[in-house]
Amino acid sequence: MKFFVDTAETREIRELAELGLLDGVTTNPSLIMKAGRDIFEVTKEICDLVDGPVSAEVTATDFDGMMKEAAILAKIASNICIKVPLTPDGLKACKALTDGGQMVNVTLCFSANQALLAAKAGASFISPFVGRLDDISNDGMELISEIRTIYDNYGFETEILVASVRGVNHVKQAALIGADVATVPPAVLWALFKHPLTDKGLEAFLADWAKTGQKIGA
Ligand code: G3P
Repeated sequence: MKFFVDTAETREIRELAELGLLDGVTTNPSLIMKAGRDIFEVTKEICDLVDGPVSAEVTATDFDGMMKEAAILAKIASNICIKVPLTPDGLKACKALTDGGQMVNVTLCFSANQALLAAKAGASFISPFVGRLDDISNDGMELISEIRTIYDNYGFETEILVASVRGVNHVKQAALIGADVATVPPAVLWALFKHPLTDKGLEAFLADWAKTGQKIGA
């Protein structure tokens, strides 16, 4: 499973990219607002930090407007993935853009039927929002299973990009189901490393090693 990070904070992206575990980045208008930076400047910086897809979202809601904005955003870098909302105009733009060879991430997916439509529109990625479904007492991960089944039934190549991830269990469940990508907030990515027995075990090894009085290398 690929890991994308869901943020527009370049400091956090840089740290994660240095780990060598980052496959891409997703942004959205709310994350750009939170970063408090110019969309073009910050998105260009992000594209230079990672080799993989960097999702940049259109804000127009009509087909022509989306196509115009997509053309502008696509010029930022070759790894830009245009994000469009799951609406009739969004999927029309998705089809036109992917037909032209542009990577497209269809966002704001909350049902299996929406995901089916996005795949038929040729989406490179579908972004089902699991956390927001959990928030309204639905089961976000059940949606991921349904989409996995539907895409496998028909051999759709659209990648399932699990979004609105709120914790490490979402990541584990996404991997168990066979989602292609999870886009996670930086804190959740760091939390994946943590286990109390790892810390305790390392502490014990280092204490025993100190007692040997040995050194590896000079
Ligand atoms: O990038 C979209 C998505 O991940 C949003 O997450 O936490 O605002 O529901 P959240």
